[in-house]
Amino acid sequence: MSARGGGGSKALPGRRKGGVPPVNKKVVLAYSGGLDTSVAIRWLKDQGWDVIAFTVALGEKKDLDAIQARALKTGASAAYVADGRAPFLQLFVWPSLQAGAVYEKEYPLATALGRPLIAAMMVEVARREGASAIAHGCTGKGNDQVRFDVTTAALAPDLKVVAPVREWGMNRDDEIEYASRHGIEVPATVRSPYSTDENLWGRSIEAGVLEDPWAEPPADVYAWTRDPRDCPDEPTYVEIGFKQGVPVSLEGKPIDPLQLVTDLNRIGGENGVGRIDHLENRLIGIKSREIYEAPAAVLLLQAHQALEDITLPKEVARFKDLVAQQWAQMVYDGLWFSPLRDALYAFVAETQRHVTGDVRVKLFKGSSQVVGRKAPAQLYQHSLATYGKGDAFDQSAAAGFIKLWGMSVRTAAQVQGRLHDRELKGLLGDVRRLTP
Ligand code: ARG
Repeated sequence: MSARGGGGSKALPGRRKGGVPPVNKKVVLAYSGGLDTSVAIRWLKDQGWDVIAFTVALGEKKDLDAIQARALKTGASAAYVADGRAPFLQLFVWPSLQAGAVYEKEYPLATALGRPLIAAMMVEVARREGASAIAHGCTGKGNDQVRFDVTTAALAPDLKVVAPVREWGMNRDDEIEYASRHGIEVPATVRSPYSTDENLWGRSIEAGVLEDPWAEPPADVYAWTRDPRDCPDEPTYVEIGFKQGVPVSLEGKPIDPLQLVTDLNRIGGENGVGRIDHLENRLIGIKSREIYEAPAAVLLLQAHQALEDITLPKEVARFKDLVAQQWAQMVYDGLWFSPLRDALYAFVAETQRHVTGDVRVKLFKGSSQVVGRKAPAQLYQHSLATYGKGDAFDQSAAAGFIKLWGMSVRTAAQVQGRLHDRELKGLLGDVRRLTP
């Protein structure tokens, strides 16, 4: 503990005797401007907290000025706004794209990737403000609380985390009532039947009629993507260029990350690409039905995979599938800031050395398909693959290889008996035999 103050008789201001660290009541709240976090400002104040609001833009549209003003009006003593889009893509999305991260084969992890960044930025603000806690508006049922809490634990274990929504036991109507009682303006989003979140990597929609997993999502769920019925009648092509697994060009022209993702969200959306209907496993064990719109993520993941298909050696490609799954789970489960990510990324980065080249994707009425790929260091060799002229493959080598490859099953069959005879009995059925 502190060695200052000599005999301890002269306690530092605000510090209790006995070396107990100062307990200031300053908290940095992740503030979206919505109902939960607006009510949270007031609720935290009532608990004696000095509330600093923090809002970060990770997506395209967010009226930061209005949110900032609203935070102050609702009772925050200071309100920060930040643009996190560049670090979001650079530090979180690109490594995950290189890893090929898709949770449970469906979800490109937009929200899951955004949370650790928001929490990390809040920790910075907390340091700057000398705050002793961070707060968020997550419920006790979801994944986001885990991501905020664990990120804080990893980056600033001394900071306390306050989660008002987990504590206050109000339902939506109670909150609206609380808001009007305290003169907190109820935001327009409250009238939506859905709960949504969005950033550059995708949009998520849950609740309302979507809670019936048998019910098809109604049209009003979607905001980024067109109904395939209303998409252009001619296909659209996009050509994406990668350098070491990171996208760097569109239609042959260099492009910065933000513009690229914005363009692909628009082009994909216009062609109905990127709609996902996922019944997923939350970390805490609840199954939930989520709709996602992620046009850029779907296109980039697909294109990146196609480039790996043509550049990665077979063994690396196969093993990398396992790593991709681990990466996705790690991100989903809130372990972005963990030793596991550093270890996995060491592998991922090594695999990306030759993942440089171009991919052509065809978009048409809700579908996207890779139709071309090329790379300077591609392992696809025409002379080995061709069935036509120029075949350089020595077919006679195959027989010996397969003899050795199958040696163990042949030996087992010879020594221990034919394992599958019983299940294959009668397989031919009433086969008909004809002779001349
Ligand atoms: N189920 C997704 C995830 O866990 C999306 C969560 C969206 N969060 C929200 N607060 N609406 O990443």
